[in-house]
Amino acid sequence: MSRYQVALCLLLSGLAVFFLFPRSIDVSYVGVKSAYVAYDLDKRIVYLNITSTLNITNNNYYAVSVTNITAQVQFSKTVIGKAKFNNSSVIIPLDERQIDYTVPTTIADEMSSMFDYCTLPTIKVHNIVVMMQVTVTTSYFGHAEQVSQEMYQYVDCGGNTTSLHGRRQVFQ
Ligand SMILES: *[C@@H]1O[C@H](CO)[C@@H](O)[C@H](O)[C@H]1NC(C)=O
Ligand SMILES: *[C@@H]1O[C@H](CO)[C@@H](O)[C@H](O)[C@H]1NC(C)=O
Ligand SMILES: *[C@@H]1O[C@H](CO)[C@@H](O)[C@H](O)[C@H]1NC(C)=O
Ligand SMILES: *[C@@H]1O[C@H](CO)[C@@H](O)[C@H](O)[C@H]1NC(C)=O
Ligand SMILES: *[C@@H]1O[C@H](CO)[C@@H](O)[C@H](O)[C@H]1NC(C)=O
Ligand SMILES: *[C@@H]1O[C@H](CO)[C@@H](O)[C@H](O)[C@H]1NC(C)=O
Repeated sequence: MSRYQVALCLLLSGLAVFFLFPRSIDVSYVGVKSAYVAYDLDKRIVYLNITSTLNITNNNYYAVSVTNITAQVQFSKTVIGKAKFNNSSVIIPLDERQIDYTVPTTIADEMSSMFDYCTLPTIKVHNIVVMMQVTVTTSYFGHAEQVSQEMYQYVDCGGNTTSLHGRRQVFQ
């Protein structure tokens, strides 16, 4: 091999390493977008559908696909709702995708005292603190990668709310 061929070879493998080197896929939990509430007055149950927004950023020079999203909501150590989505949406290289997902939750049984708090007419904002857990599975070149996030969020169980900044409500 001539010196020229060696240099070309090094250049090409350098480029291949640069473009194919696995970089992070970042998942950030943006916040609660909306919460829809309904009550079962007889059984003292609170139904709360919580929609959250995620930003998924692909820092790679190749496309990755989001194969599934699993989410779970906990209120005081009890799982009140779970959801699973198999969306195979593709994120093109160096791009960011916003994804909304809804978890239907039920506050009942040993937590039915929350029913009184959520429906109490004398207070205006009925915030409860829930823990949102989400796991995003992405895949590229047949290899799967999981990123998880956990966030505490305030949600209002006293009425329907739509805002992207659920955490701000506590300062009102
Ligand atoms: C999510 O993406 C939007 C739009 O690209 C951006 O304005 C926002 O700052 C991002 N938020 C987070 C927490 O990354
Ligand atoms: C919550 O979502 C379920 C379906 O997932 C729907 O049947 C129910 O009506 C929704 N409740 C509210 C309060 O929006
Ligand atoms: C999500 O997808 C990955 C790969 O496709 C799979 O291994 C994993 O079991 C899935 N998780 C769930 C909860 O379905
Ligand atoms: C998601 O995919 C799994 C296996 O890939 C399948 O068993 C399940 O029914 C799918 N769920 C939905 C909601 O499509
Ligand atoms: C799943 O895909 C459908 C249609 O492609 C879209 O309407 C929905 O918002 C997606 N859900 C999630 C959680 O990405
Ligand atoms: C919230 O909205 C749902 C449907 O949009 C409605 O059925 C429900 O009564 C509303 N809840 C309250 C507390 O207004």
